[in-house]
Order: sequence, then structure tokens, then C-alpha cells
Amino acid sequence: MSQSLIHKYNVAGPRYTSYPTVPYWDLESFSLEGWKASLQRAFQESNATEGLSLYIHLPFCESLCTFCGCHKRITKRHEVESPYIKAVLKEWSLYLELLGSKPVIKELHLGGGTPTFFSPEHLNLLISGLLEHAELAEGYEFSFEGHPNNTTEAHLTTLYDLGFRRVSYGVQDYNLSIQKAINRVQPFENVKRATDLARKIGYTSVGHDIIFGLPFQTETDVIETITKTKALMPDRIAFYSYAHVPWIKGNGQRGFSEADLPTPASKRQQYETGKQHFEAAGYVEIGMDHFALKSDSLYKAMAHKTLHRNFMGYTASKTQAMIGLGVSSISDSWYGFAQNVKSNEAYYKLLDQDIIPVFKGHILNTEDLIIRKHILNLMCNFETQWEDEALVFNELPEVLIKLKEFELDGLLQFESKKVIVTENGKAFIRNICMAFDLLLQRTKPETQLFSMTI
Ligand SMILES: C[S@@+](CC[C@H](N)C(=O)[O-])C[C@H]1O[C@@H](n2cnc3c(N)ncnc32)[C@H](O)[C@@H]1O
Ligand code: SF4
Repeated sequence: MSQSLIHKYNVAGPRYTSYPTVPYWDLESFSLEGWKASLQRAFQESNATEGLSLYIHLPFCESLCTFCGCHKRITKRHEVESPYIKAVLKEWSLYLELLGSKPVIKELHLGGGTPTFFSPEHLNLLISGLLEHAELAEGYEFSFEGHPNNTTEAHLTTLYDLGFRRVSYGVQDYNLSIQKAINRVQPFENVKRATDLARKIGYTSVGHDIIFGLPFQTETDVIETITKTKALMPDRIAFYSYAHVPWIKGNGQRGFSEADLPTPASKRQQYETGKQHFEAAGYVEIGMDHFALKSDSLYKAMAHKTLHRNFMGYTASKTQAMIGLGVSSISDSWYGFAQNVKSNEAYYKLLDQDIIPVFKGHILNTEDLIIRKHILNLMCNFETQWEDEALVFNELPEVLIKLKEFELDGLLQFESKKVIVTENGKAFIRNICMAFDLLLQRTKPETQLFSMTI
């Protein structure tokens, strides 16, 4: 890939797990009542046909990894588990009251933080409590994020018995000096143990998260990590670009300086090399930053063009409504977004007053809904079209002028009323989506809001 393209397109840009992106939400016209109404509408329209997704944020971790950009709270006090689970179940009861009839659960994901910080008994209480007043959709998918250092056989069997078939483990990189730099020492044996155990118990999809662009990481480190990964052949691989966002409150991104990070060109090279190795091992690239074996549901969803993307990242099944429970979780009704308060104290306090603990959100207008569809098409299928009148919007001509520039750089092709991202263009998908992001173009951020696209 040419240096000039890297130079030209390495700008701060969103990862588009939503449109509008969180910093561009219109907070003034948002209200909790508006959010509730939009969720009720989505529930009426889609519960019987698609069901809904549940995301549960479990924020605790025993120690801080200094690369981590997730919302977490570090503690070794396990007494925090029980009150947190009670609070999540209380939040769910407020939603059940709002929805009125039994929700049909299509997807359920435990994210964090570290879900396996919680004891298997507490996770059992949580999931059983959530499902008590719900039905399961056909082909439901339950998944969780496990830390290879603390996922036990009891965690895996308990969750398996509750219907979980997919687990993803945080691996990052196997080089010991990098692991020390990011305060996450985690030998290969731990990942192997957790992966083998999951398979033995019957999990059908085991994923590994690997990161490129970490402090001190070289191309050789990436190759060595992939070689070890291939020895275990996870069904899915999230190959994340390290997001350096030290300005986000509560982040632990310290202990190394920006000078310790690989340059944009070497970071890009790490990605290209990683991709070649994964493809040679039989993995197929799915959307942005993901790879899967052809037997995995994520690959099948891509092949059938049913891949979906929301705050959980890429998912194999689409539901219009996603309810996020727990601190900092974001919910999505397609017509609106709502985010929960981030501090545990504020979360408990609002729930004690029987209030859904949302503190901000956005209700989408007609333009937002059209742009959202284009960005989703691009992120999931690497193409979008405006043959369909419903996908035409006022500023489309200006967007097409911007897209011409990408065409000249060989990053996309026009085909009547359609654009298709080329193989080279896939690396710049965030930049291509930015051409559709009217809100970003209307108000350029004054400070850096997003990680760099390379
Ligand atoms: C919540 S963690 C995974 C579960 C568990 N806490 C663990 O660490 O194993 C989710 C994943 O997000 C990714 N991640 C966290 N911070 C990141 C960053 N700054 N840039 C890119 N990926 C990041 C990591 O790959 C991590 O495994
Ligand atoms: S990477 Fe996982 S374990 Fe480490 S701080 Fe982040 S959420 Fe916690």
C-alpha cells in the first residue's frame, strides 16, 4: 500500500458502531420519554418477527491492562458482584414493565470489563433472572467475553447449560515484553487451556481478540502471535487496530508514550501481514477487523449478506431492537439510541428510584435514518446503492463528489447507482463512511474525538 495513501487517509475517524456517532448525538432534543416511545415502537414492529438483542455490561476487572479502552472498574473485592447483578435485574424489570408483553430473545451478549470476574453462581442468577420472563427465539445466540486467565471450567459449563455456545477470549499479543508493557501477562498455555476447555464442553464458536499497533509491537510479534493462534484455530478472530484514546476518562492508557507506538506505515504493514497469514490459514475477512472460518456463523452471515453491526460490533443476526443493561451500556431501537450512566453509584441511585438509568441519547430524523442505512451497508457489505428511492437524500450529489476522490485512488468503483469498495479500499472503509457522515462534515470537531483510521 502506498505511503501517500496512508498519509492522505490517516485521520481521526469513527468506527461506526452507530450513526450518528455518539459525539454527534443531539442531546438537547433527547428525552427519556422519547427513548421509551421509540423502543415501544420497535418492540411492536419486530419482537414477534426478529426478537430482540440483549447486551449486558459487566464492568469489573481485577487488574488494569494499560492498553484498554473499554469501560471498566478495577477491584479485587468480589462483594461488588451481588449488588451489581441485582441492579441489572432491576433495570430489566423496568424494561419488562415498559414493553408490556414477553420479549423474544434472539441474542444475548455478556461484555465488559470481565464477565468472568463474576462467579459462575452469580452469572447463573443473572441469566436465569433475565430469561424468567422472556421467550427464546429460534436459533438464538448467547455469547460472552472471557478472560483466559480467569475463565474456569465451572464458568464454561454453567454458561453452556444456560444456552451459551460462543465465547471470545482476549489474547492481544503473546510477546512477554509487550504483555508487560500493557500490564497483561498471559501465557499461551492459559489461552490454550481456556480454548480447549470450551471446545470440550461443546462451544461451537471460540473467538480470539488480537491487537496490532500496540506499544513496542513489531511485524515479527504479530507473525509470532498469529503462528500461536493458528495452533488453536479459533473459529473467529477479531484483529483490532489498537485505538489510542488516552483522553477518555477512566482509561488506563499510560505506562508507555506515543513514541513507543508503531508508526502508521508499520501499523498498516502489521495489518496487511496479519491478513495474509490469516487468509493462508483458511480465514475469510469479514467487514472491518474481523476474520472467520467458513464454518462460523459470521462467515455465513457475510456470504448471505445478512451481516449486521451494532454496539456489540459485527453480529450474525439482525434485530431492530437491542437493549443494553448495566453501566455505560447503549441501547438501540433503530429509531433512537440511549446510553446508561457510567458510574456504578449513579446507576444504583436511579434504579432505586425506579428510573431507567439512561443519561443521554439521540432520536434519529429522516436524514439520519437514510445515512445510517448507507453506513451499515458499507460496513457490512462493502457496497451501497441509491437505486432505491428511499435511500436518496438531499446532499447525495455532494457525497458522490467526495466518493469520486476514492474512485481516483482505486478504493472504490461506481456501477450505475451503486458504489462497491475495492479490495484496496477495504482498509479505508472508515474514511469512505466518513464521506456519508453529514453530521461530521457540518461540524468539524475542535478536539480529537476519535482514534486514527490507520
Ligand atoms: C472487554 S475486553 C475482553 C474481555 C476481557 N476483559 C479480557 O480482557 O480478556 C474486549 C476486547 O476489546 C479489545 N480492546 C480493548 N481496548 C482496546 C483498544 N484500546 N484498542 C483496540 N482494542 C481494544 C481487546 O482486544 C479486548 O480483548
Ligand atoms: S482488557 Fe479486559 S481485563 Fe483488561 S482492563 Fe480491559 S476489560 Fe479489563
